[in-house]
Amino acid sequence: MRVLSGIQPTGRFHWGNYFGAIRQYIDLQNDNEAYYFIANLHALTTVRDAKLLAQNTHDAALDLLALGLDPRRATLFVQSDVPEVSELCWLLMTGAPLGLLERCHAYKDKKAKGLTADAGLFMYPVLMSADILIYDADIVPVGEDQMQHIEVCRDLAGSFNHQYGETFVLPKGKVLPGAAKVPGTDGEKMSKSYNNTLELFEEPKALRKKIMRIVTDSRPMEQPKEPEGDHLFELYSLFASETERNEMAALYRRGGFGYGEIKQALAEVAERFLAEPRRRRAELASHPDEVRGILADGAARARKKAGEVLLRAQRACGVK
Ligand code: ADP
Ligand code: TRP
Repeated sequence: MRVLSGIQPTGRFHWGNYFGAIRQYIDLQNDNEAYYFIANLHALTTVRDAKLLAQNTHDAALDLLALGLDPRRATLFVQSDVPEVSELCWLLMTGAPLGLLERCHAYKDKKAKGLTADAGLFMYPVLMSADILIYDADIVPVGEDQMQHIEVCRDLAGSFNHQYGETFVLPKGKVLPGAAKVPGTDGEKMSKSYNNTLELFEEPKALRKKIMRIVTDSRPMEQPKEPEGDHLFELYSLFASETERNEMAALYRRGGFGYGEIKQALAEVAERFLAEPRRRRAELASHPDEVRGILADGAARARKKAGEVLLRAQRACGVK
């Protein structure tokens, strides 16, 4: 199976990004032909600072590689390094019904808030469709919020095929199995937009401080508590072994503990997990040319495939 997914370089990755998405991408690289890219063209709809976008893009590559994305198994590249995708985007745009795009949530939500949206945000799902179709992707692992865009992609591919003959593979969206919905420091869903994130590559001291500030209820020390649904317990479970998790659950049910000690335990298991990726990231950061080389290799491989599919589409609709 050919698996493809993209992730926007809109800031530093947090625990939600890892346990909800990145970890699954890394797992899928083992038994599939995997293409993963850093969606910097999509990020342009929100990041309007050139230096910052370039920095975020490089950082995203460091993060993914440090977390275990293996460039010998998966093709890792930057979206804009494959210009064919923008060309395919235009071909798809010519057949994209306005009504379909008007229903897409990124644009719709912004409009509903009375904010002015630009054409880039409106066309966002078409570019995403081009991203997917240009590699003949079979499976697109994404978070729940992106499934609507996969449906748009299938619609656009289907009507192109109907109009011009079989050209595109219809991809299947896959909501990542086992993808945890990770709570943030306030117990709500962890998200950059809610300012409640714990970053993967935060310095240990700063991370510990943030963990100690996680919001908890005012339960007295001796009172037992049901662990399921408690966000501190959920965060702990992300990093804990089965045994550690069971022991922690038993402690919750027994009572006689303070949240301070749970936070300490969380900081320890998180640190145990993050130490190695942090070390690998530092190593990669000191070899920027190596990282650029990996991305250039990835882009060359991706462009080869993209060129074939673009040509197929151009011939189908009569522009080549
Ligand atoms: P954010 O909400 O911080 O802006 P993104 O929308 O850029 O994050 O998400 C990138 C990927 O990470 C998506 O696949 C999304 O489903 C996943 N993701 C983000 N936050 C969480 C979370 N709290 N729990 C699980 N998955 C998440
Ligand atoms: N829109 C996706 C997100 O915000 C990122 C993305 C861009 C993507 N192009 C894609 C994901 C193609 C899957 C396939 O998470």
